[in-house]
Amino acid sequence: QNERYVDFDTKDQGPNAEQRKWEEEHQKKAHMHFGARDAKAKQPEYDLLLEEDKIEFVQALTMAGSEAVPNEMNEMSEADRKRMTMKETRESLPIFPFRESLLAAIKEHQVLIIEGETGSGKTTQIPQYLYEDGFTADGKKIACTQPRRVAAMSVAARVAEETSTKLGNEVGYSIRFEDCTSERTVLKYMTDGMLLREFLGEPDMASYCVLIIDEAHERTLHTDILFGLVKDIARFRPDLKLLISSATLDAEKFSKFFDDAPIFRIPGRRFPVDIYYTKAPEADYIDACVVCVLQIHTTQPRGDILVFLTGQEEIESCEQLLLDKTRQLGSKIKELIITPIYANLPADLQAKIFVPTPPNARKVVLATNIAETSLTIDGIVFVIDPGFNKQKSYNARTGMEALVVSPISKASANQRAGRAGRVSPGKCFRLYTAWAYKHELEDNPVPEIQRTNLGNVVLMLKSLGINDLINFDFMDPPPHETLVLALEQLYALGALNHLGELTTLGRRMAEFPADPMMSKMLLASEKYKCSEDILTIACMLSANNAIFFRPKDKAVHADTARQAFFHKDGDHLTLLNVYNQYKDIPTHSQQQWCRENFIQSRSMGRAHDVRDQLQQLMERVEIQIISSAGDTVAIRKAITAGYFYHAAKLSKGGSYKTVKHQQSVLIHPNSCLFEQNPRWVLYHELVLTTKEYMRQTIEIESAWLTEVAPHYYKAKELDDNSGKKMPKGVGKPGGPGLARPGE
Ligand code: CDP
Ligand code: MG
Repeated sequence: QNERYVDFDTKDQGPNAEQRKWEEEHQKKAHMHFGARDAKAKQPEYDLLLEEDKIEFVQALTMAGSEAVPNEMNEMSEADRKRMTMKETRESLPIFPFRESLLAAIKEHQVLIIEGETGSGKTTQIPQYLYEDGFTADGKKIACTQPRRVAAMSVAARVAEETSTKLGNEVGYSIRFEDCTSERTVLKYMTDGMLLREFLGEPDMASYCVLIIDEAHERTLHTDILFGLVKDIARFRPDLKLLISSATLDAEKFSKFFDDAPIFRIPGRRFPVDIYYTKAPEADYIDACVVCVLQIHTTQPRGDILVFLTGQEEIESCEQLLLDKTRQLGSKIKELIITPIYANLPADLQAKIFVPTPPNARKVVLATNIAETSLTIDGIVFVIDPGFNKQKSYNARTGMEALVVSPISKASANQRAGRAGRVSPGKCFRLYTAWAYKHELEDNPVPEIQRTNLGNVVLMLKSLGINDLINFDFMDPPPHETLVLALEQLYALGALNHLGELTTLGRRMAEFPADPMMSKMLLASEKYKCSEDILTIACMLSANNAIFFRPKDKAVHADTARQAFFHKDGDHLTLLNVYNQYKDIPTHSQQQWCRENFIQSRSMGRAHDVRDQLQQLMERVEIQIISSAGDTVAIRKAITAGYFYHAAKLSKGGSYKTVKHQQSVLIHPNSCLFEQNPRWVLYHELVLTTKEYMRQTIEIESAWLTEVAPHYYKAKELDDNSGKKMPKGVGKPGGPGLARPGE
């Protein structure tokens, strides 16, 4: 029973004959899966999956299309689609019939809220309409913000293609550490954080004629702050147009905030989507995704699959598992094209998700939340939704921020499901129970401003001369204690004086597009004469833990290679080792060196670029780039000067307690300090998976804390009585909630 598909006769008939015979054989069996609606559909290949590899779904409800559904997209064949010119493609978008009335509305009103289903053409078309209509004739630019870097880049690339221009000329993008624009650029896609940063240099936004705050429903921190700022400048710049565009139902709320601005609705075009829930909770959702992909691939008619995962690591492991499985199955199944998409993926690989799927294959896109509303991939008919995303969570009491894999909201779940109904009726497989949907998911996501550290934006607003933060025009104000804590932290870092005014140090910190702690570390490197080392460490830290590569089948080799870079004083110095060795390798052999050492060469390339940018910023604040010549105490003191909040002390059983708030945390198993258990450590960030881990840790001395932050730490808090190192023990068990993947 277990080896059913191996039994199959595959003797020398060539792959096609083999496939055909096998299909005939299996067509005889009728299976009913995914609900009764599919009884008619043939599901010849289902037996391919072993019994334990199947997920049972129940169908709960059908999302109906909101409007009468024009069917032309659905019935268009691949060949037709190829033949369609760019102009025709543009004119087939739901927004196109509204081009004139939209332009008229924009001319009539200074502020307009635009609401329309994802994929209707808001992001790619509106800036082009404005451009074609002459809005930029006097040389002023149109800005269109995106919450995500990948979206800014990919949308800009698409619009450059549609306008037959070279990316970076008329159409460009600007994201942190990467400016792809020129003198000629009039359509500028940018992250919301970058537009916020531009306010520092140009508080009246004089070089812009239109500001489009796109994906407003995402309610990122930067978007929320932008709301307050743009509302304010619109008052004294009557010539400036303001468009707030959103994919969901928040339009009324936006309208209210912007003094009852009119709402322009682009009617939706969505086919019905059947929704399926698992009968029982799934313990390991990565594994369940893999099973479900194969289940769809072997039983369902044509159509691509979109899988929502929480981050790069998950996407990579899912990709690996799928590759293994499909390799095992070989020619017994049709081709499955696996394409990942996440923030750190280089642009050329990102483009792969938009390549149309060849007729005999199926594409599966493994995506982060970016595919929920920011990117639209044509051809998706099946969505797999495990029900999680990675969210910042902030404890305003302790000031601790962590990235946490958390359940999504009902609104997000429905957006995700909607992705399946764009080109034809679709199906959404939720890897959680109908009960969990009903009882465990919140209705709407919590705006980021209410669950994040505000240090960075407070510093930025202070630099803009906005001192009264309590009365800033927030759409949803952050919790009072979060604001107070941000002010306290900036005071402890020396960025604000006791009156809450920006200090010289604070002004310099605001120059860096980074977390205040990181900015402070960079600036402190001057005092400790290690700016070159700290610069490298900062850019390696910004690589988001994507430096080391650990393929499942070569885990032991990868670990050995990683350990060769270990530095006894901690992970930051390990990262420094990696970079310093990398930069001494001749450029033409860097890739090979990376492969041999299980280092991700893309991340290194990016770290290298970021380093160039940061170095320029260092020069702008007049810090000389000097090397510590291996003085790791100096380096670690500079890190401590920025990250002194993140100090933890060894407590019982190998676990640690944060110094100020006595929270239990553990050294991450990947850390070079994992076995050592030093008495005092400093971490870069906390990550909550099954346990609360410190990621990127260095050993410090408690005396350094009072040296770098005398107004924050008192010597008696840091009393040190027993000097012994303690053995490793077990940490606290995983939290409640929906199933999480294993560590
Ligand atoms: O912003 P909105 O969600 O309303 O739609 P859009 O992003 O402007 O997308 C309109 C169309 O452009 C969709 O059919 C996308 O598939 C297509 N598009 C693309 O082919 N490549 C991109 N990089 C972005 C969009
Ligand atoms: Mg969009």
